[in-house]
Amino acid sequence: MSTSPDSQVRTDFSALDPVFTEFSGVQGGLITILQKAQDVYGWLSRETLEHIASRTGVKPAKVYGVATFYAQFRLKPVGRYLIMLCKGTACHVNGSNAIEDAVTRALGIRDGETSADGMFTLNDVACLGCCSLAPVMMVRGSAGEETFGGLTPDRVQVILKEIAARDITEVPA
Ligand code: FES
Repeated sequence: MSTSPDSQVRTDFSALDPVFTEFSGVQGGLITILQKAQDVYGWLSRETLEHIASRTGVKPAKVYGVATFYAQFRLKPVGRYLIMLCKGTACHVNGSNAIEDAVTRALGIRDGETSADGMFTLNDVACLGCCSLAPVMMVRGSAGEETFGGLTPDRVQVILKEIAARDITEVPA
């Protein structure tokens, strides 16, 4: 579930109710709440941060400060597909930089950027936990997450084209 950045419709935050119940007032709970909110909405909008502040009683400036301090939090909207490109050690030594260059050539985006058509966002991430498949990327879309291992620059281009083609057939114009 996500909202358009231009949307004037207020976001339904009810999916976070159990998270507030479990983690409000708990030591380190704010980070967990931010993580869960990002999992649900894909990124942390100003509205989301304000809601978290009001529900937890933490000052908005502190919520914003924590969200901006940690690189894991996204403060800009993401595309329909979030490419999480592993830059952990195993993937790095197996050519993740060349994979990133291939993504950039194919989509015109670098780490943290979203393609002009709003379809793809690229995020470099730490180890995805499947180092034996290095280099690896995970792609999160509306249908869930897919992991692609043993990547080569050529294969990445094919995968991205296949995802884009699938998206055209699945998303009504
Ligand atoms: S370093 Fe990439 S999956 Fe572990």
